[in-house]
Amino acid sequence: MLIEHTLLPTRLEHVPLAVFAHRQVASCAVAAEVAGLIRARQRQGRTVVLGLATGSTPVSLYAELVRLHREERLSFANVITFNLDEYRGLSADHPRSYGRFMRRHLFDLIDLPETRIHLLDGAVPDAAVDAHCREYEQKIRAAGGIDFQILGIGRNGHIGFNEPGSARASRTRLVALDPLTRQDAAGDFGGEERTPRCAITMGIGTILEARRIVLMAWGWRKAGPVRAAVEGEVTTQAPASFLQDHDQVQFVLDHDAASALTRYRLPWLLGARACQGRTWDQRPIRRVAAPASEIHRP
Ligand code: F6R
Repeated sequence: MLIEHTLLPTRLEHVPLAVFAHRQVASCAVAAEVAGLIRARQRQGRTVVLGLATGSTPVSLYAELVRLHREERLSFANVITFNLDEYRGLSADHPRSYGRFMRRHLFDLIDLPETRIHLLDGAVPDAAVDAHCREYEQKIRAAGGIDFQILGIGRNGHIGFNEPGSARASRTRLVALDPLTRQDAAGDFGGEERTPRCAITMGIGTILEARRIVLMAWGWRKAGPVRAAVEGEVTTQAPASFLQDHDQVQFVLDHDAASALTRYRLPWLLGARACQGRTWDQRPIRRVAAPASEIHRP
Protein backbone atom coordinates (compact mmCIF):
# COMPACT_ATOMS: atom_id res chain seq x y z
CA MET A 1 0.00 0.00 0.00
CA LEU A 2 1.24 3.44 -0.92
CA ILE A 3 0.85 5.58 2.17
CA GLU A 4 1.85 8.89 0.70
CA HIS A 5 3.29 9.96 -2.60
CA THR A 6 3.39 13.64 -2.16
CA LEU A 7 5.35 16.79 -1.86
CA LEU A 8 3.06 17.65 1.03
CA PRO A 9 5.24 19.26 3.68
CA THR A 10 7.75 20.77 1.28
CA ARG A 11 8.75 23.52 3.67
CA LEU A 12 10.96 20.99 5.42
CA GLU A 13 11.52 18.29 2.81
CA HIS A 14 13.98 19.03 0.05
CA VAL A 15 13.48 15.90 -2.07
CA PRO A 16 10.30 14.21 -3.37
CA LEU A 17 9.31 11.09 -1.44
CA ALA A 18 7.14 8.04 -1.91
CA VAL A 19 6.35 6.28 1.36
CA PHE A 20 5.00 2.72 1.30
CA ALA A 21 3.77 0.46 4.05
CA HIS A 22 6.09 -2.38 2.98
CA ARG A 23 9.40 -2.62 1.16
CA GLN A 24 8.08 -5.29 -1.22
CA VAL A 25 5.39 -3.00 -2.54
CA ALA A 26 7.85 -0.11 -2.71
CA SER A 27 10.28 -2.30 -4.66
CA CYS A 28 7.54 -3.31 -7.10
CA ALA A 29 6.81 0.37 -7.75
CA VAL A 30 10.49 1.05 -8.51
CA ALA A 31 10.70 -2.10 -10.66
CA ALA A 32 7.65 -0.93 -12.63
CA GLU A 33 9.37 2.37 -13.37
CA VAL A 34 12.57 0.61 -14.45
CA ALA A 35 10.59 -1.84 -16.61
CA GLY A 36 8.64 1.02 -18.18
CA LEU A 37 11.89 2.76 -19.12
CA ILE A 38 13.41 -0.43 -20.56
CA ARG A 39 10.29 -1.12 -22.65
CA ALA A 40 10.01 2.47 -23.85
CA ARG A 41 13.62 2.34 -25.08
CA GLN A 42 12.98 -1.04 -26.74
CA ARG A 43 10.15 0.50 -28.73
CA GLN A 44 12.57 3.22 -29.87
CA GLY A 45 15.29 0.67 -30.68
CA ARG A 46 17.56 2.22 -28.05
CA THR A 47 19.64 0.99 -25.13
CA VAL A 48 19.09 2.09 -21.52
CA VAL A 49 21.85 2.53 -18.94
CA LEU A 50 21.14 1.48 -15.37
CA GLY A 51 23.33 2.33 -12.37
CA LEU A 52 22.98 -0.46 -9.82
CA ALA A 53 23.51 -0.76 -6.08
CA THR A 54 24.14 -3.82 -3.93
CA GLY A 55 23.48 -4.57 -0.24
CA SER A 56 20.24 -5.72 1.33
CA THR A 57 18.11 -2.81 0.09
CA PRO A 58 17.81 -3.63 -3.64
CA VAL A 59 17.33 -7.39 -3.17
CA SER A 60 13.54 -7.12 -3.36
CA LEU A 61 13.81 -4.82 -6.40
CA TYR A 62 16.01 -7.33 -8.23
CA ALA A 63 13.62 -10.17 -7.28
CA GLU A 64 10.77 -8.23 -8.85
CA LEU A 65 12.77 -7.49 -12.01
CA VAL A 66 13.55 -11.21 -12.30
CA ARG A 67 9.84 -11.98 -11.87
CA LEU A 68 8.96 -9.47 -14.58
CA HIS A 69 11.50 -11.16 -16.85
CA ARG A 70 10.14 -14.65 -16.18
CA GLU A 71 6.44 -13.96 -15.98
CA GLU A 72 5.90 -10.80 -18.00
CA ARG A 73 8.56 -11.24 -20.67
CA LEU A 74 10.60 -8.19 -19.71
CA SER A 75 13.80 -8.46 -21.74
CA PHE A 76 17.07 -6.87 -20.63
CA ALA A 77 18.66 -7.30 -24.05
CA ASN A 78 18.87 -3.52 -24.52
CA VAL A 79 20.16 -2.80 -21.00
CA ILE A 80 23.68 -1.66 -20.06
CA THR A 81 24.63 -1.71 -16.37
CA PHE A 82 27.23 0.00 -14.21
CA ASN A 83 27.60 -0.99 -10.58
CA LEU A 84 28.30 1.62 -7.96
CA ASP A 85 31.13 0.08 -6.00
CA GLU A 86 33.30 -2.88 -5.00
CA TYR A 87 35.37 -3.76 -1.95
CA ARG A 88 39.10 -3.24 -2.42
CA GLY A 89 40.91 -6.54 -2.71
CA LEU A 90 37.98 -8.55 -4.04
CA SER A 91 37.87 -9.58 -7.68
CA ALA A 92 34.46 -9.69 -9.35
CA ASP A 93 34.22 -13.46 -8.80
CA HIS A 94 35.19 -13.46 -5.11
CA PRO A 95 32.32 -15.06 -3.16
CA ARG A 96 31.79 -11.88 -1.07
CA SER A 97 32.24 -9.48 -3.95
CA TYR A 98 29.48 -7.24 -5.18
CA GLY A 99 30.09 -8.75 -8.60
CA ARG A 100 29.02 -12.16 -7.30
CA PHE A 101 26.11 -10.56 -5.47
CA MET A 102 24.86 -9.08 -8.74
CA ARG A 103 25.16 -12.40 -10.57
CA ARG A 104 23.29 -14.22 -7.81
CA HIS A 105 20.46 -11.72 -7.49
CA LEU A 106 20.08 -10.45 -11.04
CA PHE A 107 22.57 -10.99 -13.86
CA ASP A 108 22.43 -14.81 -13.95
CA LEU A 109 18.64 -14.77 -13.84
CA ILE A 110 17.85 -12.47 -16.76
CA ASP A 111 18.85 -12.09 -20.42
CA LEU A 112 21.30 -9.23 -19.90
CA PRO A 113 24.20 -9.60 -22.36
CA GLU A 114 27.49 -10.26 -20.53
CA THR A 115 29.26 -7.59 -22.57
CA ARG A 116 26.91 -4.93 -21.23
CA ILE A 117 27.68 -5.58 -17.55
CA HIS A 118 30.20 -3.17 -16.01
CA LEU A 119 31.67 -3.87 -12.59
CA LEU A 120 34.50 -2.20 -10.74
CA ASP A 121 37.42 -4.55 -10.17
CA GLY A 122 38.40 -4.44 -6.51
CA ALA A 123 41.48 -6.57 -7.20
CA VAL A 124 43.11 -4.26 -9.74
CA PRO A 125 46.80 -3.69 -8.79
CA ASP A 126 47.56 -0.54 -6.77
CA ALA A 127 49.40 1.09 -9.63
CA ALA A 128 46.42 0.61 -11.95
CA VAL A 129 43.61 1.83 -9.66
CA ASP A 130 43.48 5.40 -10.93
CA ALA A 131 43.49 4.31 -14.56
CA HIS A 132 40.78 1.75 -13.80
CA CYS A 133 38.61 4.47 -12.23
CA ARG A 134 39.14 6.87 -15.15
CA GLU A 135 38.33 4.09 -17.59
CA TYR A 136 35.09 3.31 -15.73
CA GLU A 137 34.02 6.95 -15.98
CA GLN A 138 34.95 6.92 -19.65
CA LYS A 139 32.81 3.81 -20.22
CA ILE A 140 29.84 5.50 -18.55
CA ARG A 141 30.25 8.50 -20.85
CA ALA A 142 30.67 6.27 -23.91
CA ALA A 143 27.42 4.50 -23.02
CA GLY A 144 25.66 7.87 -23.07
CA GLY A 145 25.54 8.42 -19.28
CA ILE A 146 23.39 6.72 -16.67
CA ASP A 147 19.66 6.96 -17.33
CA PHE A 148 18.43 5.51 -14.04
CA GLN A 149 20.52 5.21 -10.88
CA ILE A 150 19.42 2.99 -8.00
CA LEU A 151 20.83 3.90 -4.59
CA GLY A 152 20.65 2.65 -1.03
CA ILE A 153 21.82 4.73 1.93
CA GLY A 154 24.26 3.79 4.66
CA ARG A 155 23.61 4.39 8.35
CA ASN A 156 26.16 7.22 8.12
CA GLY A 157 24.33 8.71 5.13
CA HIS A 158 26.73 7.37 2.49
CA ILE A 159 25.70 6.74 -1.10
CA GLY A 160 27.83 4.25 -2.97
CA PHE A 161 30.85 4.21 -0.68
CA ASN A 162 31.02 7.99 -0.54
CA GLU A 163 31.47 8.26 3.20
CA PRO A 164 30.91 11.44 5.25
CA GLY A 165 33.45 14.02 4.16
CA SER A 166 33.22 13.07 0.48
CA ALA A 167 33.14 16.03 -1.88
CA ARG A 168 30.20 16.84 -4.10
CA ALA A 169 32.48 16.83 -7.15
CA SER A 170 34.08 13.46 -6.30
CA ARG A 171 34.52 10.94 -9.11
CA THR A 172 35.13 7.19 -9.22
CA ARG A 173 38.05 6.50 -6.89
CA LEU A 174 39.62 4.43 -4.14
CA VAL A 175 38.24 5.31 -0.69
CA ALA A 176 38.76 4.26 2.92
CA LEU A 177 35.64 2.84 4.57
CA ASP A 178 34.06 4.49 7.59
CA PRO A 179 34.13 2.36 10.80
CA LEU A 180 30.31 2.21 10.79
CA THR A 181 30.28 0.89 7.21
CA ARG A 182 32.81 -1.80 8.14
CA GLN A 183 30.82 -2.66 11.25
CA ASP A 184 27.69 -3.12 9.13
CA ALA A 185 29.58 -5.28 6.62
CA ALA A 186 31.36 -7.37 9.27
CA GLY A 187 28.64 -10.03 9.32
CA ASP A 188 29.30 -10.82 5.65
CA PHE A 189 33.04 -11.21 6.21
CA GLY A 190 33.09 -13.16 9.48
CA GLY A 191 34.11 -10.24 11.70
CA GLU A 192 35.39 -6.69 11.47
CA GLU A 193 39.04 -7.78 11.32
CA ARG A 194 38.35 -9.57 8.05
CA THR A 195 36.25 -6.78 6.57
CA PRO A 196 37.95 -4.77 3.80
CA ARG A 197 39.19 -1.33 4.84
CA CYS A 198 38.85 0.26 1.42
CA ALA A 199 36.63 0.18 -1.64
CA ILE A 200 36.37 1.61 -5.12
CA THR A 201 33.25 3.68 -5.63
CA MET A 202 31.63 5.94 -8.16
CA GLY A 203 31.85 9.50 -6.88
CA ILE A 204 29.06 11.79 -5.80
CA GLY A 205 29.69 13.87 -8.92
CA THR A 206 29.38 10.70 -11.02
CA ILE A 207 26.10 9.75 -9.34
CA LEU A 208 24.62 13.24 -9.70
CA GLU A 209 25.11 13.08 -13.47
CA ALA A 210 22.51 10.28 -13.74
CA ARG A 211 19.32 11.53 -15.40
CA ARG A 212 17.04 9.92 -12.81
CA ILE A 213 17.98 8.79 -9.31
CA VAL A 214 15.90 6.67 -6.94
CA LEU A 215 17.18 6.17 -3.42
CA MET A 216 15.49 3.33 -1.56
CA ALA A 217 15.58 2.86 2.22
CA TRP A 218 13.89 0.35 4.48
CA GLY A 219 13.69 -0.03 8.24
CA TRP A 220 14.08 2.20 11.27
CA ARG A 221 17.89 2.01 11.17
CA LYS A 222 17.75 4.24 8.11
CA ALA A 223 15.32 6.75 9.62
CA GLY A 224 18.06 9.09 10.94
CA PRO A 225 20.15 9.27 7.74
CA VAL A 226 16.99 9.60 5.64
CA ARG A 227 15.85 12.55 7.71
CA ALA A 228 19.27 14.21 7.47
CA ALA A 229 19.27 13.78 3.70
CA VAL A 230 15.67 14.94 3.22
CA GLU A 231 15.28 17.71 5.80
CA GLY A 232 18.85 18.65 6.67
CA GLU A 233 21.32 21.01 5.08
CA VAL A 234 23.37 19.93 2.11
CA THR A 235 26.63 18.92 3.74
CA THR A 236 29.57 16.61 3.17
CA GLN A 237 28.71 15.10 6.57
CA ALA A 238 25.53 13.61 5.08
CA PRO A 239 26.56 12.58 1.53
CA ALA A 240 22.99 11.68 0.52
CA SER A 241 22.02 15.31 1.17
CA PHE A 242 23.78 16.20 -2.10
CA LEU A 243 20.84 14.52 -3.84
CA GLN A 244 18.79 17.61 -2.91
CA ASP A 245 20.60 19.30 -5.81
CA HIS A 246 19.22 16.83 -8.37
CA ASP A 247 15.99 17.71 -10.14
CA GLN A 248 14.93 14.13 -10.94
CA VAL A 249 15.58 12.39 -7.64
CA GLN A 250 13.05 10.49 -5.56
CA PHE A 251 13.37 8.77 -2.20
CA VAL A 252 11.30 5.58 -1.97
CA LEU A 253 10.84 4.63 1.65
CA ASP A 254 9.03 2.16 3.80
CA HIS A 255 7.12 3.42 6.77
CA ASP A 256 9.94 2.83 9.26
CA ALA A 257 12.62 4.50 7.17
CA ALA A 258 10.34 7.55 6.90
CA SER A 259 9.44 7.58 10.59
CA ALA A 260 11.89 10.28 11.71
CA LEU A 261 10.60 12.80 9.17
CA THR A 262 8.78 15.74 10.69
CA ARG A 263 5.62 14.84 8.77
CA TYR A 264 5.35 11.71 10.97
CA ARG A 265 7.13 12.78 14.16
CA LEU A 266 5.57 16.19 14.56
CA PRO A 267 2.80 16.42 11.94
CA TRP A 268 1.05 19.29 13.72
CA LEU A 269 4.02 21.51 12.87
CA LEU A 270 3.10 21.15 9.23
CA GLY A 271 -0.45 22.39 9.50
CA ALA A 272 -3.86 20.80 9.05
CA ARG A 273 -3.18 19.00 5.74
CA ALA A 274 -0.35 16.96 7.19
CA CYS A 275 -2.60 15.69 9.98
CA GLN A 276 -5.47 14.76 7.69
CA GLY A 277 -6.48 11.13 7.82
CA ARG A 278 -4.34 10.42 10.88
CA THR A 279 -5.61 9.62 14.31
CA TRP A 280 -3.91 9.90 17.64
CA ASP A 281 -3.37 6.17 18.03
CA GLN A 282 -1.35 5.83 14.82
CA ARG A 283 2.24 4.80 15.13
CA PRO A 284 4.11 7.86 13.91
CA ILE A 285 2.34 10.03 16.43
CA ARG A 286 2.71 7.60 19.31
CA ARG A 287 6.45 7.66 18.71
CA VAL A 288 6.59 11.30 19.58
CA ALA A 289 5.44 10.46 23.08
CA ALA A 290 8.18 7.85 23.44
CA PRO A 291 11.55 8.70 25.01
CA ALA A 292 13.99 10.14 22.47
CA SER A 293 16.10 6.99 22.68
CA GLU A 294 13.16 4.93 21.43
CA ILE A 295 11.97 7.19 18.68
CA HIS A 296 13.41 5.06 15.88
CA ARG A 297 12.32 1.69 17.22
CA PRO A 298 9.75 -0.21 15.11
C1 F6R B 1 26.13 -0.71 -2.15
C2 F6R B 1 26.13 0.71 -1.80
C3 F6R B 1 25.86 1.16 -0.42
C4 F6R B 1 24.57 0.57 0.15
C5 F6R B 1 24.32 1.07 1.57
C6 F6R B 1 23.10 0.43 2.18
O1 F6R B 1 26.38 -0.89 -3.53
O2 F6R B 1 26.37 1.49 -2.66
O3 F6R B 1 25.78 2.57 -0.41
O4 F6R B 1 23.50 0.95 -0.68
O5 F6R B 1 25.43 0.78 2.37
O6 F6R B 1 23.35 -0.92 2.37
P1 F6R B 1 22.16 -1.92 2.75
O7 F6R B 1 21.23 -1.91 1.59
O8 F6R B 1 22.81 -3.26 2.92
O9 F6R B 1 21.53 -1.38 3.98
